[in-house]
Amino acid sequence: MGQYFDNEKLPSKISSYSCFIRGKKFTFYTDIGVFSRNGLDFGTRLLLENINLDTIGNDILDIGCGYGPVGVFISSYGYHVDMCDVNRRALHLACKNLSVNNTCANVFYSNIYDNINCKYSCIITNPPIRAGKDVVNSIIFGSYDKLINNGFLYIVIKKDMGGKSIILKLKDKFNDVNIIAKKSGYMVICCKK
Ligand SMILES: C[S@@+](CC[C@H](N)C(=O)[O-])C[C@H]1O[C@@H](n2cnc3c(N)ncnc32)[C@H](O)[C@@H]1O
Repeated sequence: MGQYFDNEKLPSKISSYSCFIRGKKFTFYTDIGVFSRNGLDFGTRLLLENINLDTIGNDILDIGCGYGPVGVFISSYGYHVDMCDVNRRALHLACKNLSVNNTCANVFYSNIYDNINCKYSCIITNPPIRAGKDVVNSIIFGSYDKLINNGFLYIVIKKDMGGKSIILKLKDKFNDVNIIAKKSGYMVICCKK
């Protein structure tokens, strides 16, 4: 759970790794107390490999950005990206990771959508399952009001972590809900408002 709290007081052991995502090379700095510090998360990779980059529009929100793999990847294509999280250490790393990958985005603190005052053409999240259902549901279902009409929500989630019931609830809210990728128990869901 440590990764979801204000963890400025944890010991620090910054390390980095490099990886290819859709043929592009990225380097990410990580630290103790942030999500998936030893390498790109399997679910995050599945998510990034399956986003349709031609249809997401130009105003993207990466909510629960962690040290930034989603926002760094998406902003590398020139899109306008906002990245937010409650983990201040992760936010510092996200800024560093934008810079080392020669891209830019807005990085800021926000508990769920508390500091989000605009609407996006696409919201992307690998939600913080360990933060509990209330936070996950608020991020997933709260996205609707933060999307423009015809905007997209992309989520990666494990099937056995409530994925099926989330899909049913998403179908009540969104016009179009599709599982666009499935691998090793993870699924990527794309919803159109
Ligand atoms: C599963 S991690 C994904 C991190 C990153 N997007 C990635 O794919 O590597 C979920 C992130 O959500 C953040 N988080 C937890 N509770 C949150 C909240 N209430 N509001 C916003 N972000 C939150 C965590 O700090 C964590 O960085």
